[in-house]
Amino acid sequence: MNTDVNTDVNTDMTTDQIARTFVEYFEERGHRRISGSTLLPTPGDPVLFTTSGMHPLIPYLQGRPHPLGNRLVNVQRCLRTTDLDEVGDRTHLTVFEMLGTWSLGDYEGPVSLDWGYGLLTEGFGIDPGLLHATVFGGDDRTGPDTASLELWQSHGVPVELTVEDNWWSNGPTGPCGPDSEIFLWTGDTPPESTPTGDDRWVEVWNHVMMRHLRLADGSLVPLPQRNVDTGLGLERLASLLQGRRSVFECDVFDPWRTLVPALWQLDEPSLRLVCDHLRSAVVVIGDGVRPGNTGRGYVLRRLIRRVLTVLRRDDPWRGLGDLPDELVRHTLDRFRQEEEPEVVRRVLLDEERGFGRLLERGRNVLARRRFQGPLSEEDFHYLHDTHGLPRDLVLSLRPE
Ligand code: ALA
Repeated sequence: MNTDVNTDVNTDMTTDQIARTFVEYFEERGHRRISGSTLLPTPGDPVLFTTSGMHPLIPYLQGRPHPLGNRLVNVQRCLRTTDLDEVGDRTHLTVFEMLGTWSLGDYEGPVSLDWGYGLLTEGFGIDPGLLHATVFGGDDRTGPDTASLELWQSHGVPVELTVEDNWWSNGPTGPCGPDSEIFLWTGDTPPESTPTGDDRWVEVWNHVMMRHLRLADGSLVPLPQRNVDTGLGLERLASLLQGRRSVFECDVFDPWRTLVPALWQLDEPSLRLVCDHLRSAVVVIGDGVRPGNTGRGYVLRRLIRRVLTVLRRDDPWRGLGDLPDELVRHTLDRFRQEEEPEVVRRVLLDEERGFGRLLERGRNVLARRRFQGPLSEEDFHYLHDTHGLPRDLVLSLRPE
C-alpha cells in the first residue's frame, strides 16, 4: 500500500471547516440544509444501518415532494459493514460522515459535476491536474453517460469508462443509476494510469444520476423524476486536503491518536482497528443500539469483541475500563449525540464482562478431549448451539 500523499493542498482547514465550506457552497447555489438522521433507518427498512446520505431520502427520490424543496444538502452519519475488512487501510472507516447533495428532479448530472469540480479546485484548492473521473460506459440496458463524459472533457479532466464500477444502488432493489466518480491522485510521482489501474487514485466524490428504480424481479423502470444524488466521505476528504497519510490522521482522530497509544501499545494496523471500532461502537450505542445476538446488536457486539480480541492478544489484562471518558465525549459531541458518556461506558463494560465469561467457557469446553483434533462442521454447530460459542471465537481460541 502506498502511503505517500502529494495532493499539493495541505490545507489548514479543520474537518468542521471543510464541512461548513461544503454546505455553504451548495446553500449559495439554492440548496437547503436538512438535518442528518441517526444511523437507524426507519422501521420496515430491510437494511440494518444508514449506509449513505440518500438512504433517509428514498421516498423523495421516488417522487414525494420534500418540504424543503428540490435542492438539498446535508451531513449524514453512515455505517458500512461491507467495508469491515478494509478498515485499517488508509481510506475506510466503519462509521463516517458523508457530505451529500441532492437534486430532486431539478438540475441534471453535468451541473452537479460542474459544481463539484468548482468546489474541489477553487473552493478547496486542489490542482485540477490531480483529478481523474470515471463515467458509466453503457451496457445492454442503459446507454453510456455521454453528458457526464462531455462535461469532464470540457474541463480537460481525464475519464475512464467502466460498467459495474459506475452503477450505484443502495441495495438489490430501489433507486439506482449510472454514476460518475471523482478521484484524486495521492502518489508522489506525477499522476499515471487510471483509477481502476492504480490505487493511488483515491475516490473522493460520487455523483449518481438516480433515474431508475430496480424492482424485485431485477428489471429497471424509470423513476418519476430525474434526480442527482452525490456523496463524499468527510474524513477521507479531510485527510486528503490536510495532506495526511490516512483517514486516521485527520484532525478528528487527534484525541484518539494521542490517548490510545498512551494507554495501549499497539502496532499501526491494530491501533487503526481499535480506534475505528471503538469510535464506531460509541456512535452506534449513542444511537440507542445495545449488543445482542442478531441484527444491529450483533454488529455492535462484533465491533466490541474485535477490539477486545486485539487488545488482549498481547496482554490479557487490558480492558475497556481504561478507556478515557474524553474519547467517548469527543465522539458523542462530534456526532451531535445526546447519550450520556456514562451510559456508553456501562454498555461497553457489560459487554466486556459477558465476553470474558464466554471466553472462559470456550476455553473449558475446548479443553475436552473431543475437541483436541481438527474440528468438524458438526463440532462447530454443537459448540454454537449448545455452548453459544460462535465459529470465529472458537477459531480465535484455537489458532491452527
Ligand atoms: N449515494 C452515493 C454513494 O453513497 C452518492 O456513493
